[in-house]
Amino acid sequence: MTNLKRCHSIEDLRRAAQRYLPRLVWDYIEGGVEDETCLARNRQAWDAITLVPRYLVDVSQVSLTRTLWGQEYALPVGIAPTGLAGFARHGADLMLARAAQQAGVPFVLSGAGTASTEAVMRVAPQSTWFQLYVSRDARVTESLLRRAIEVGVQNLVFTVDVPVHSNRERDARNGFVPPVKPTLSAIANALCHPLWLARFVRHGLPRFENWAPYAPAGASAKQIADLFTSQIPFTQTWQDLARIRELWPGKLIVKGILHEADAKLAAEAGVDGIWVSNHGGRVLDSAPAALTQLPLIRQAVGADIKLMVDGGVRRGSDIVKAMSLGADFVFAGRPMMYGVAAAGQAGVERALAILAHELSLTVAQLGGWETTMPPERIPSSH
Ligand code: FNR
Ligand code: LAC
Repeated sequence: MTNLKRCHSIEDLRRAAQRYLPRLVWDYIEGGVEDETCLARNRQAWDAITLVPRYLVDVSQVSLTRTLWGQEYALPVGIAPTGLAGFARHGADLMLARAAQQAGVPFVLSGAGTASTEAVMRVAPQSTWFQLYVSRDARVTESLLRRAIEVGVQNLVFTVDVPVHSNRERDARNGFVPPVKPTLSAIANALCHPLWLARFVRHGLPRFENWAPYAPAGASAKQIADLFTSQIPFTQTWQDLARIRELWPGKLIVKGILHEADAKLAAEAGVDGIWVSNHGGRVLDSAPAALTQLPLIRQAVGADIKLMVDGGVRRGSDIVKAMSLGADFVFAGRPMMYGVAAAGQAGVERALAILAHELSLTVAQLGGWETTMPPERIPSSH
């Protein structure tokens, strides 16, 4: 069991997660594509930025809250969508959702999630956003959206950066690419992780719950997973974005934008937010760090559109850096998966508390938010 009292940083949670998980699941979560240069670049981009402190400012009251589209969040950081979370731990999506609700931050349920939108909204009605992976069958896409609207989801994230299956060599070596067939070596390794294995044996394969209604009655978890993976390569175009804009009454955020021209097109299509991201280095290995593109995209779309960024956020100071370069909100993917793998909901709460603690120290050490960013992006409650 992970002793969370000994986890002082996201890196500590990362090590605890790695100990708990079998290699096949660990590699799926941790890995990038090909040579993993994009993954490395994501982290290097944050490290390359310094923050210059100002002193003799009273920082005894530093606010970390952030209002987005009328809703106040406790921190300007949320939980990015991560598909297949149930492989890390049975019930992971609900644990992530509950931790987010508890901490007052957004949780984005993945379109490849292992809990249904309905179930997640029951445990986290205030903090859940839904991430859409479209279906080749427009009726399925519309049904996914309708269900989210019916249970009161306000914010929709449309992910556009997975046109084809990504070239994930770690997964290929473990036999964790469609058609999934774990290698003997991956199975042997799983046997060496008895705590994970015991849960997996007890609960069986996690299901893509949101896709279950569109599979034949009585379909197995594997058949439902096959239904999902058969949607890729995606056939979506800018027309689909326009259609989704028509169908979605709430806020629409397009995720996975890196090019300024695409950011402009998205703005013209009437999105409310643009999530600058390279999918955590999991799609195109030559892609730039999202953070590097962020100021260019802010310049391209102007001040009105909300910008989100992710990819390599591991410290509270990264949140300040993102916001000083034009972000309104920041997301973290793997850090939350480390938390949930290491210790379930408590591990996610720990991950969020670590980032909050580091953020509060950084802002105070800088002499407040005002020293690093324009007034319109200074967190609320001032
Ligand atoms: C992801 N990501 C992702 N994004 C998305 O839009 N839908 C998804 O289903 C998934 N699935 C997924 C699974 C796993 C295991 C990871 C690690 C990531 C990308 C995710 O939302 C986010 O963009 C990155 O994780 C951000 O990088 P960091 O914080 O992991 O470095
Ligand atoms: C991934 C898919 C689920 O990154 O988006 O693994």
